[in-house]
Amino acid sequence: MKKIFICLFSLLIFSHVRAQNDQPIRAGMNRVKLEFMLDGEGKPVYAVYYGDKAVIKPSAMGFTLANDSAFDKHFILISSEHSSVDEIWKPVWGEVSSIRNRYEQVIVHLKQKNSPNRLLNIIFRVFEDGVGFRYEFPKQPGLKYFVVSNELTSFSLAGDHKTFWIPGDYDTNEYQYTTSKISEIDNLPMVNASTDIAVRVAPDRYAVQTPLMMKTADGLYINIHEAALVNFPAMQLHVDNSTYKLTANLVPDAVGNKAYVHAPFKTPWRTIIVSDKATDILASKMILNLNDPSKIQDPSWIKPMKFVGVWWEMQTGKSTWSYSNDPDTLSADGKLIPNGTHGANTANVKKYIDFASANGIQGVLVEGWNVGWEDWFGNWKENVFSFVTPYPDFDVKELTTYAVSKGVHLIMHNETSASATDYERQMDTSYRFMNKYGYTSVKTGYVGKIIPRGEHHDGQWMVNHYIRVVQKTADYHIMLDSHEPVRPTGLQRTYPNWMACESGRGNEYNAFGQGNKPEHETIMPFTRLMGGPMDYTPGIFKIKNYTSDPDRQVHTTLVKQLALYITMYSPVEMAADLPENYEKHMDAFQFIKDVATDWDDTKVLEAEPGDYITIARKAKGTSDWFIGAITDENNRNTSVSLSFLDKDKKYVATIYADADDADWKQNPEAYKITKYLVNEGTKLNLKLAKGGGAAISIKPATAEDKGLKFYK
Ligand code: NOJ
Ligand code: CA
Repeated sequence: MKKIFICLFSLLIFSHVRAQNDQPIRAGMNRVKLEFMLDGEGKPVYAVYYGDKAVIKPSAMGFTLANDSAFDKHFILISSEHSSVDEIWKPVWGEVSSIRNRYEQVIVHLKQKNSPNRLLNIIFRVFEDGVGFRYEFPKQPGLKYFVVSNELTSFSLAGDHKTFWIPGDYDTNEYQYTTSKISEIDNLPMVNASTDIAVRVAPDRYAVQTPLMMKTADGLYINIHEAALVNFPAMQLHVDNSTYKLTANLVPDAVGNKAYVHAPFKTPWRTIIVSDKATDILASKMILNLNDPSKIQDPSWIKPMKFVGVWWEMQTGKSTWSYSNDPDTLSADGKLIPNGTHGANTANVKKYIDFASANGIQGVLVEGWNVGWEDWFGNWKENVFSFVTPYPDFDVKELTTYAVSKGVHLIMHNETSASATDYERQMDTSYRFMNKYGYTSVKTGYVGKIIPRGEHHDGQWMVNHYIRVVQKTADYHIMLDSHEPVRPTGLQRTYPNWMACESGRGNEYNAFGQGNKPEHETIMPFTRLMGGPMDYTPGIFKIKNYTSDPDRQVHTTLVKQLALYITMYSPVEMAADLPENYEKHMDAFQFIKDVATDWDDTKVLEAEPGDYITIARKAKGTSDWFIGAITDENNRNTSVSLSFLDKDKKYVATIYADADDADWKQNPEAYKITKYLVNEGTKLNLKLAKGGGAAISIKPATAEDKGLKFYK
């Protein structure tokens, strides 16, 4: 058994403090400071500071329960416990190979003064880069099974911060980001994610999604999210635009309740990450540290990888997921009539397998292989899909044998069309089928309104569903990539077969809707990706004229698509374009062939949300480094120091750069590739086009590289 949790040093100092109702309890780690106290009404209140700056001003905590009095006041402090931890653990995969988990913990034990004298504990952990806290409902006579009608946790901000936000939709995160002041948030219309058409909602629904990224006027970066979202609804944030107070807005269930809870129970952690450097936000491991260690004893079957797929051709309308046009008109012998445009046919899949095999890509995703696609979308109907019945032109046995002979794996696709209960019934059957045919990964999907009861994608029931799926896939040694689930909260630490989620607006929006603005990918790592990896599907090389709509285009240069393999971290990365589009640019495709998906080390070199990001990563178990730099709609010149390279060693850098006249709109596919010798003293000057980027691979030099020039 491989030990994935290595505790190098762990120190626990317990001190039980006697009740001091009027004295604040304090904890701190370097510049981050926490204060907790009960106010005159016995209401729990916390505050967070960075140095002498208020990050969260004194803010309320607690709950209201259904059919019950408030659970946010009349508390007295029974005791508090202080302890601290400093340990190192190793993730199964990740941006770095070992993670330091260092925090000071305070647990406050509270009791209500009046009968039934209910108990509530609040657990705070203060890290160098922020604060996490969660509520614990201990086992107690007065609180056995209860319904939470509201969480009252608030985050009183110290000013009208610049905020990068998407609306608090209960069912999707697939929005463009808006950058505005807090005060402007509920003055702006909400938009429907897929049409981008503005829709007004009732003011009490004004909420924003987390992770929420903010920047204060005096240069503090603040990120609010949650960790370890288990058996509870997602927390969105209701915005008060005049007081700059954010309040937890739990996603309701189908009848308006928030959470059904049995004591003892611990809520997810509420997280506040803070620094005066934007790069620290991206480098933070606080959310992972707040999650439980891996539950998978032997993770040897879990492997990061790149994949191609029968996918973009359907997204762009070149082929279809469905096999026939009309499920109700059958041939004389009662069969579906083929439409001639079905993408997942055996011959076509073999083309992708050949391309993957020739280029060292480990996986081939095939969507539209199983019956049901004639009738899947927007019908709010159960039992649409079978997950074990291929269409007649998809020969699963032959393709499995073919893939194995070519050294690649097929990746399963289970689109549930949001029929989640039905999926639970079919899971074992589906995963047995995958084991039988050698599929080691599955991409799930939840497009539409959740059936049968109209639960929300981000509500408690679905949160538990996604976890049932990751547990069950783990039982079958299957890796999981979930599309349309609740946004991640670091549970990939606990379930390392949960490789990625979508839960955000992916590259696919460039095939429909309004696409993604050039700044989109400079915001996503500060927002959606704070909770975990995203299956963003980068690597589109044909930037224009890939659909029948002449105005449609990807809102980046080709080179920026390469840089996304570094800046949009995921252990599973798709090379999303069609093989024929790659074949026209095999020199640029070399970067995708070379780039790693698992890392020993990551250096966030520079970053500003909404503007630019430059990251360097060292491939696991090698001396190779890869750098990705991206910009928004503005061009950008930057200088990257390679001081992280080993001293006294020579390397070869292959620089994939936007051509001098490249521009995401006018000339997106123009690039140049150069190669130089470099060392730890080298400073690379990079020129990023408007909507552009730079991608660099760096490998130790060999005898063959003798003739190369040194970079100057
Ligand atoms: C939406 C997913 O994001 C996309 O990747 C998939 O192709 C479609 N649903 C169909 O399942
Ligand atoms: Ca910008």
